[in-house]
Amino acid sequence: MAGGVPEAGESELEAAVRTRPVPRHIAIIMDGNGRWARRRGLPRVAGHRAGAGALREVVRACGELGVKYLSLFAFSTENWRRPRAEVSALMRLLSEYLRREVDELNANDVALRAIGATADLPPGARRNLERAIERTRGNGGLCLILALNYGSRREIAGAARELCRLSAAGEIDWRAVDEAAVERHLYTSGIPDPDLLIRPSGEMRLSNFLLWQAAYAELYVTPVLWPDFRRADLVRAILDYQRRERRFGGVGAGVGAAGEPGDGAGAPPAR
Ligand code: FPP
Repeated sequence: MAGGVPEAGESELEAAVRTRPVPRHIAIIMDGNGRWARRRGLPRVAGHRAGAGALREVVRACGELGVKYLSLFAFSTENWRRPRAEVSALMRLLSEYLRREVDELNANDVALRAIGATADLPPGARRNLERAIERTRGNGGLCLILALNYGSRREIAGAARELCRLSAAGEIDWRAVDEAAVERHLYTSGIPDPDLLIRPSGEMRLSNFLLWQAAYAELYVTPVLWPDFRRADLVRAILDYQRRERRFGGVGAGVGAAGEPGDGAGAPPAR
């Protein structure tokens, strides 16, 4: 659950967050759009639209704070089970976002990527996604990763299947299948693991998001619903992260809030 970052003015929080390293990679499960809409007597789609506004603000804030990677869970492999009208509205919203925001992403040096079975998205959404990725490819600032038609178990099963295929084809030795080999066949290959995983709207679960990659992520759950999530909420989450001691399974001696694993002197012999 969200830790006790003391109440302070927004400018004090901003000043405080800049005194320590920010997480290199933040992942967010954008949850609570439906509840936000219901509380206002609005259709669920209005919540998703408001959620797109929060997304815009958080992308900009991450770029300005020096976060290098931001992964956002935008549509899961399970979300197809929602009413057809809601799924269509989400796809339209995605296309609209990509068309409208690409100039702003470029202006802010943001490079867009996508993870998930994007080939199965409706053709319009897929086209807009491919164009936006292409147009922002050379940017060197924040890497914005949209998880679309994404499911972590499906991703891991896909990596296992590919390794089996390579082994059966004689292209790899099964004995060489280690963690690094699995990672090379995940959608996130080449992207560092998330340091901080934020879940708005109070739910305490990962919902099939980045199960492998989030093995050592610091979790931050806040009751704030995603459409209400603002830059100040992001800053609070980062401040909470900065107060944690990351041990990566070790004892933590000499490891700071955003530190690295120790020297491995006590590691078991390699198998
Ligand atoms: C979960 O809230 C949210 C989603 C399934 C969709 C997330 C989509 C957006 C934030 C829209 C903008 C996205 C892009 C890429 C433009 P929920 O509907 O499950 O909320 P509930 O749990 O309160 O019902």
